[in-house]
Amino acid sequence: MSPIHDSENELFPDLARVLYTSADISSRVNELGRQITSDYRGRSLVMISILKGGIIFLGDLMRAVAIPHAFDLIGASSYKGGTSTSGKVIITKDVTLDLRGKDILVVEDILDTGHTLNVVIELLKIQEPASIEVCCLLNKNRPRAHEIPLRYTGFDIPDEFVVGYGLDYRELYRNLKCIAVLKPEVYSA
Ligand code: IMP
Ligand code: MG
Repeated sequence: MSPIHDSENELFPDLARVLYTSADISSRVNELGRQITSDYRGRSLVMISILKGGIIFLGDLMRAVAIPHAFDLIGASSYKGGTSTSGKVIITKDVTLDLRGKDILVVEDILDTGHTLNVVIELLKIQEPASIEVCCLLNKNRPRAHEIPLRYTGFDIPDEFVVGYGLDYRELYRNLKCIAVLKPEVYSA
């Protein structure tokens, strides 16, 4: 059986433009993994992803990092189902690992205004880790509300609403293998 292709996905007709194919993403994730492997060798790395959008990226990135490491999940939500940020971030789940003295790499799907990462980083700092850095798959080119310690970026993208590879619009489209821009009529409906 051949693998499922995005064109078979019933949501595919909603896409206006594919920005990155599954092959583009996988080759960039492998590059990031190699860089993280060499930068964090000999340190006590904990990768922490932000629910829900970051978990697909985390799953692939972890398997591209060839040194021992732990992972944990934190729940944060800022969008209320629309395409623009509310500025208010709600923590829906805390981490469970003891992070004191650990080298934390926050793994996030997309950096937009920076509100979410700012709140998450402030919360993680309370545990006094040895270091906190950020790895974002997508970095939106737009003014930032907060200074974010962004160490690794997958792709710099224009300020457009994107879906796929974990990113949602009203909880759908997360299972697309590509990253794409939706047809405007989808979210103006
Ligand atoms: P920020 O707090 O404004 O930086 O927004 C970060 C969060 O908003 C991300 O974790 C995503 O969940 C969501 N987000 C931002 N831009 C997009 C997008 O283009 N598509 C889907 N979700 C997005
Ligand atoms: Mg998210």
